[in-house]
Amino acid sequence: MAAGKLRVGVLASGQGSNLQALIDACADPSFPAEIVHVLSNVEGAYALERARRAGIPTALIRHREYSSREAFDAAVDACLREAGVEFVCLAGFMRLLSEGFVRGWDGRMINIHPSLLPSFKGLHTHAQALQAGVKVHGCTVHFVRPALDDGPVLAQAAVPVLPGDSADLLAARVLEQEHRIYPLALRLIAEGRAVVDGDVVRIDAPHAGQALVNPVAP
Ligand code: GAR
Repeated sequence: MAAGKLRVGVLASGQGSNLQALIDACADPSFPAEIVHVLSNVEGAYALERARRAGIPTALIRHREYSSREAFDAAVDACLREAGVEFVCLAGFMRLLSEGFVRGWDGRMINIHPSLLPSFKGLHTHAQALQAGVKVHGCTVHFVRPALDDGPVLAQAAVPVLPGDSADLLAARVLEQEHRIYPLALRLIAEGRAVVDGDVVRIDAPHAGQALVNPVAP
């Protein structure tokens, strides 16, 4: 284990493709963070298999075995602290977190959400975007606050909504960008270049000087 790296715990409920993007980024010796634990609430979640293959310790904490959200969250919290986790990444973790848990990791927990927040919170974001007729959609990495899909925005990527898109086509286009911005966001944090200032994140990094415009001007 390299010294000085940010010790990250990842919470995932599903296929874990974002977890994989983080695992791949951390495989670079120069990456300033390491994943020390992966936790899931879903038995058989492929995310757990991805972690095992990468040699990362895993935990399965089944929410159904707890009498309340708070009790489940307390078990998750204890597991993360036991593993020496300093920073939490939610990667497709499909459980609402209690206010107490979120406050306990305030400023030390980020989430990836498949929309350009604050648009399209909650589930079925791609169907929501199609229904709304927006021309640009995307994904967001944000610090986690107690309200659903709320918190200072750290990174976003936009994709065009194309004629004939289905929710699945759009989801695939967005997911590709999720895999780009999640490692980027974690790097910015681990390098101390992303700092929460009230409700916004101040970032010390070069920015692309060009807007994404859709449709393309003739
Ligand atoms: C991702 O699209 C992620 O943004 C979304 O779940 C998917 C998980 O995919 N998360 C949310 O909707 C949370 N509000 P993955 O398991 O392949 O990373």
